[in-house]
Amino acid sequence: MAFAQIVGWGMHVPDKVVGNDAFVKMGLDTSDEWISSRTGIHERRFVENGQPVSDLAVEAAKQALQVADAHPRDLDLVILATCTPDQIMPSTASFVQHRLGADRAGAFDLNAACAGFVYALATGAAQIESGRAKNVMVVGADELSNHLNWQDRTTCVLFGDGAGAVLLRASEEPGIMASTTGSDGSGAGLLEIRGGGTKASSNGNASANGKAVLTMNGPQIFRWATKKLSEAATQVIEESDLTVDQVDLFLPHQANLRIIDSAAKRLGLPREKVFSNVDTYGNTSAASIPIALCEAISQDRVHVGDNMILTSFGSGLSWAALALRWGTPIPSSVARWTPIRLQLETRMAGLRSAIKKRERAVRATIGERLNRDGG
Ligand code: UT7
Repeated sequence: MAFAQIVGWGMHVPDKVVGNDAFVKMGLDTSDEWISSRTGIHERRFVENGQPVSDLAVEAAKQALQVADAHPRDLDLVILATCTPDQIMPSTASFVQHRLGADRAGAFDLNAACAGFVYALATGAAQIESGRAKNVMVVGADELSNHLNWQDRTTCVLFGDGAGAVLLRASEEPGIMASTTGSDGSGAGLLEIRGGGTKASSNGNASANGKAVLTMNGPQIFRWATKKLSEAATQVIEESDLTVDQVDLFLPHQANLRIIDSAAKRLGLPREKVFSNVDTYGNTSAASIPIALCEAISQDRVHVGDNMILTSFGSGLSWAALALRWGTPIPSSVARWTPIRLQLETRMAGLRSAIKKRERAVRATIGERLNRDGG
């Protein structure tokens, strides 16, 4: 059986940095002290001018290709974990596949909210392990800033926007060793965005569509998450025949530092084996784990042979955990010509797309003429 290895990685966050004080200035009854002491968050990034989530996803995926020195045409599949797609259809993954120039790849979105990236990683790994794919781009990208109620201090201070990506490749060595995914829909109402779907059916009448604003019962999610994170982590540690002592790095979903600390304590993991960057990005939903992975790599906290545990949780309620052994040497720099080659390939993909569009339009015109003349 083939294993799935992470051979490339990348992240992209918007330029706009928003500190905790910005919410006080907006007139919200909150403080930097409350937000930072209760969540660990100091700042987050928000997109501006309606920038779509596919923009962030494409940049992260391009970096992952660069690190792996891979060609977009090598990709068999693009899986994009997101709960904030560009539009209802087509899938945002299709935009990403197209803009990367990944002409051979299938593409689909996966929505497991904040747990989405680990779900997508497990799904991509299964495709590789079954022999159906050799190279799978797995992206986690979200822009929850589009769905926040700026009057609700219990939610709007928690989230940020961003994207992270990894390239999975078939390998003879593990790789991903074990994964678990779970769902408990009885808790669906604890964290949700009600509007935008068929329940709030509009029959084309936008005003009838329910409000697409995030609501959450924070304390209940908090209690459930601390327990679930450690349970799911324990499961994949056992299934990969590891002991807790053999875990080198714990990469949990970045929602709240207190949740992370409490889960690590339940597992018996010392602080130095736990990665957190919730202070700088807030909760970026499906992007939080791949962004954390990229930053852990850049801080020299990931080495060949390390055993790593990834755990996530979120709306659904859904959760996922995964154990992997890191197998890719960290390149000190990307080969000089790789970004140039990728830029060229992206331009070529744009050109191919323009030609295809033109071809389609010409065919349609000829077809119409023939029909008219025939009729
Ligand atoms: O990806 C999954 C996404 N969700 C999560 O991870 C959320 C998990 N839950 C949490 O992180 C925490 O429950 C929160 C950060 C949301 C809330 O922290 P908490 O320690 O559970 O506070 P609480 O909800 O029990 O609220 C305590 C007090 C309340 O005031 P009263 O009723 O005691 O007067 C809240 O209204 O803190 C108040 N409060 C705030 N005060 C200032 C809640 N949010 C704020 C705020 N600023 N932003």
